[in-house]
Amino acid sequence: MASDHLGILWRGNRDARNQATAENNRLRPVFEALAGLDVAAEPVVYSDEFVEEVRNQLQQLDGILVWVDPITDGQNRSRLDALLREVASTGVWVSAHPDVILKMGTKEVLFRTRDVGWGSDTHLYNTARELMEQLPSRLAAGPRVLKQSRGNGGIGVWKVEVQPGATVRVQHARDRDGVTEDLPLSEFIDRCEEYFSGTGCMVDQPFQPRIVDGMIRCYLTQDKVAGFAHQYPSHALPPETVLGLPAQKTMYGPAEPRFKALRASMESDWVPASQRLLNIETNSLPAVWDADFLYGPKNEHGEDTYVLCEINVSSVYPFPEEAVGQIAQTATTCMLQAKKTRVNLSTT
Ligand SMILES: Nc1ncnc2c1ncn2[C@@H]1O[C@H](COP(=O)(O)OP(=O)(O)O)[C@@H](O)[C@H]1O
Ligand SMILES: [Mg+2]
Repeated sequence: MASDHLGILWRGNRDARNQATAENNRLRPVFEALAGLDVAAEPVVYSDEFVEEVRNQLQQLDGILVWVDPITDGQNRSRLDALLREVASTGVWVSAHPDVILKMGTKEVLFRTRDVGWGSDTHLYNTARELMEQLPSRLAAGPRVLKQSRGNGGIGVWKVEVQPGATVRVQHARDRDGVTEDLPLSEFIDRCEEYFSGTGCMVDQPFQPRIVDGMIRCYLTQDKVAGFAHQYPSHALPPETVLGLPAQKTMYGPAEPRFKALRASMESDWVPASQRLLNIETNSLPAVWDADFLYGPKNEHGEDTYVLCEINVSSVYPFPEEAVGQIAQTATTCMLQAKKTRVNLSTT
């Protein structure tokens, strides 16, 4: 077995796999930071088309950092996650482990941690029937945002607002074009049926009108804040139609003064409280993840408040330059720990 070998895994086709080097991909800074810590890292380009080949590669490694979205071009992670679980069960360190993604990277986390300081009035529907029974009274109090349990890029994220009659105005966050559609509530609920197939569910949060001020992404390595990003709405849209945001972000380091209060709340309160609720030890927290915040209403002192929009775990990219060193350091420490445990187990 090669010593202290880390794999960095992302999705790609045969050509991408054949051509990938540590230099010719977007995670090059991570490869470089690892090299600076004397850790040899290799690209692992994954596709469902060559699972066996990737399995053979992963079995030679001590740790794997993974960047794969839950849904890419209609492909999900079911085969990849099975493979990662299998490899992790032999003592290889995997970040993020699929079980940890399930606990913190799906929209249910918004419901499970709704009473943590970052939460809002959040509900969970397991069936279209529950949605039909409970949504109308909540809509009467104001616009809501409904989200399918697993997704990215605004797919299956809907702003819903009551209109006169039994009609609702809906807007899909995926489209980022401000376009809305009016339709009978029952028809909208029928459309949501697909989100409940299998173990699917929907989470319901209040719509936060301060989305017009953008979104704050807080990056973490395990339980430490590693940086921030601010993402702004498109100026081309009337403010009342803002929902999904363009991807462009302004990055900040972890010590950025304007986010001092958010960092303090995250590190000393919200992250530890969520770890207890979700039963995730610090060592199992991902080497890189983010919590996306919307501004809530200002508090009585006129200060900003923050409401959790979602947590991303599967494929956090881009991230601030300042985060790279922390990611590499954490990956190295965790991989070495896992390796030590494996060696100890095999000699006892
Ligand atoms: N409660 C909310 N209030 C206002 N806008 C929201 C709310 N929830 C989500 N959005 C908007 O919808 C987008 C997509 O929602 P998000 O929960 O981040 O799902 P995804 O996993 O698809 O990124 C967000 O980036 C944000 O612009
Ligand atoms: Mg999002």
